[in-house]
Amino acid sequence: MKKIVVLVSGRGSNMTALLDACSEQRWNARIEAVISDRPHSPACDRARSRGVRLEVVDANGFASRQAFNQSLGDTLACLQPDLVVLAGFMRILPTELVEQYPLRMLNIHPSLLPAFPGLHTHRRALDSGARIHGATVHYVSPELDAGPIIAQAALAIQDVDTESTLAARVLSAEHHILPLAVKWHLDGRLQVDGARVRLDSPAAAETQSMWFA
Ligand code: GAR
Repeated sequence: MKKIVVLVSGRGSNMTALLDACSEQRWNARIEAVISDRPHSPACDRARSRGVRLEVVDANGFASRQAFNQSLGDTLACLQPDLVVLAGFMRILPTELVEQYPLRMLNIHPSLLPAFPGLHTHRRALDSGARIHGATVHYVSPELDAGPIIAQAALAIQDVDTESTLAARVLSAEHHILPLAVKWHLDGRLQVDGARVRLDSPAAAETQSMWFA
């Protein structure tokens, strides 16, 4: 059975979507552990309440960023994951760590990459006047919020949207595409060709780009 390790920093709703999909769809994989860089994040409570092994690598508990990165890398290595999922993990990982998990590390990001990498994506999408926004699941490469794109969820920005209404709609789309992308990866259905990720059948490939209300 394949081992997934999920990295979190905050609320943990994407982690919960993964836990739900993993148990409801009886994946041939298990969430081996959750790693949080914040000891008191809601994600920690959620992981505990679900009985998932929780490791805390407290970002504030180290003298340097390098020491934190080392500890995070060691914690991950001990868990021997087949797949690492960044589900709202709000730290930039060092190149050396990312390179240890080539095409075995996924990230969910709340924008249609390559638009709006980084923070405050919903506000920036509104401010830009964009009519379409969304979320992206991608393999992680060392650059920030970059790497081969597996799936994207798009939705129309309404004139009445605020940052919070937009964030809520994007988040619910995230909960759909993240488990889907993880399952495709686990089932060996993804082929990476440079920046392009192909799903095994042309008909199925349509589900790599989805519209949400
Ligand atoms: C999600 O919107 C996720 O896409 C975003 O953080 C939020 C975490 O929510 N991630 C990033 O911005 C990474 N660049 P959650 O803790 O409820 O899953």
